[in-house]
Amino acid sequence: MSFVCGRDHSKKFKPEDMQLQIQGKNCVVTGANSGIGYAAAEGLASRGATVYMVCRNKERGQEALSKIQNSTGNQNVYLEVCDLSSFNDIKSFASSFASKDVPVHVLVNNAGFLENKHTTTPEGFELNFAGNVLGTYTMTELRLPLLEKASPDAKVITVSSGGMYTSPLTTDLQVTNLTFMTPFVCVTSLALFASLNSRCCVWFFYSDKYKNKGIDSYLMHPGWAETPGVARSLPSFKESFSGKLRTSEEGADTVVWLALQPKEKLVSGAFYFDRAEAPKHLTLADHYALLGLGSLRYLATEDQIRKSYREAALKLHPDKLSAALLLSDESDVAKQAKREAIESHFKLIQEAYGLLMDPNKRRIFDFTDEFDDAVPSDCAPKDFFKV
Ligand SMILES: NC(=O)c1ccc[n+]([C@@H]2O[C@H](COP(=O)([O-])OP(=O)(O)OC[C@H]3O[C@@H](n4cnc5c(N)ncnc54)[C@H](OP(=O)(O)O)[C@@H]3O)[C@@H](O)[C@H]2O)c1
Repeated sequence: MSFVCGRDHSKKFKPEDMQLQIQGKNCVVTGANSGIGYAAAEGLASRGATVYMVCRNKERGQEALSKIQNSTGNQNVYLEVCDLSSFNDIKSFASSFASKDVPVHVLVNNAGFLENKHTTTPEGFELNFAGNVLGTYTMTELRLPLLEKASPDAKVITVSSGGMYTSPLTTDLQVTNLTFMTPFVCVTSLALFASLNSRCCVWFFYSDKYKNKGIDSYLMHPGWAETPGVARSLPSFKESFSGKLRTSEEGADTVVWLALQPKEKLVSGAFYFDRAEAPKHLTLADHYALLGLGSLRYLATEDQIRKSYREAALKLHPDKLSAALLLSDESDVAKQAKREAIESHFKLIQEAYGLLMDPNKRRIFDFTDEFDDAVPSDCAPKDFFKV
């Protein structure tokens, strides 16, 4: 199974989830002329929504708009031109859009890019930060009055990346101090991941604020999709994995799914992947390995988990191991340290058992596992991008 395609998550998808129509709902999609944003805009238009495509280039935007109108038959698709890396552009777009006075039911913050060189915008911000974080934040904040108009139906869906798991948060938001850390973690991915991680944190932080206004917000991770953006920014990665990556439609699937589902089914402030809630952090403990199931992992049956736990309990229970310690001729301090280590290891085993026997928690853990166990090894170092 490929790390890019996920673990057959789609087998759990319910086709009826995507058969919902959202006529009369206004959806704003940023970066809608290409890749995931285009597929999301098309997916929403095909389900009857009025779609406002926010694109930075008028010609590219117009071309995409005509394609979507033709493919969906929906004429309620409009182009808005705005460069999301420019604070001033977003401000003037916000005021011209506000004059339409339409409720915004769904805002999809999708526009994003990966800039390899350290570039500063005319307004003085590092480009990755300006577009991926500041632009997204400003766009949402300035859209609040129109989102509130759609309250309690309003949703903000922000496209992020699994890269947020691997990138530490930085206070160096202007990304001034990037260096090559390891052969595989290059300046490009750090800049992007730092900005995507900050983007996530902004939304985790703001989801409560928005919720109080009847605006629910969700982050999502598209998986690896073969988009023009990936082809442009990561050419040798794209070449190595060509045909194995998701399509743009598959990358946009969870965006459309989130837009369509009734809010009661969703958790505001949560991180979604493949139509299901996913953890916000990597889990450090390897629950399968703790139970001796490291090679079976997600294939382990409940019976095997129970059996392994029983065996681990028999072998590693603190009562048993501490009894053996009593007979050893180590110092009391050393014995106490060992006793504590035995107890905390056994506690981890108990936690692993509890987690793996809970289908929801196990599914969430399996999701993080996916990022751990299949790091691409055959792409060029400069193209390393761990999903
Ligand atoms: N593809 C993946 O595997 C993947 C994985 C993880 C996360 N993501 C995220 O998914 C989102 C979409 O990426 P994609 O792969 O679909 O890339 P893409 O094909 O390059 O599409 C990105 C879109 O954003 C627009 N955009 C870029 N900078 C902008 C700006 N300053 N102002 C307004 N629009 C701007 C682009 O417009 P132009 O056409 O004019 O450049 C394009 O429409 C990004 O946020 C990316 O970080 C993608």
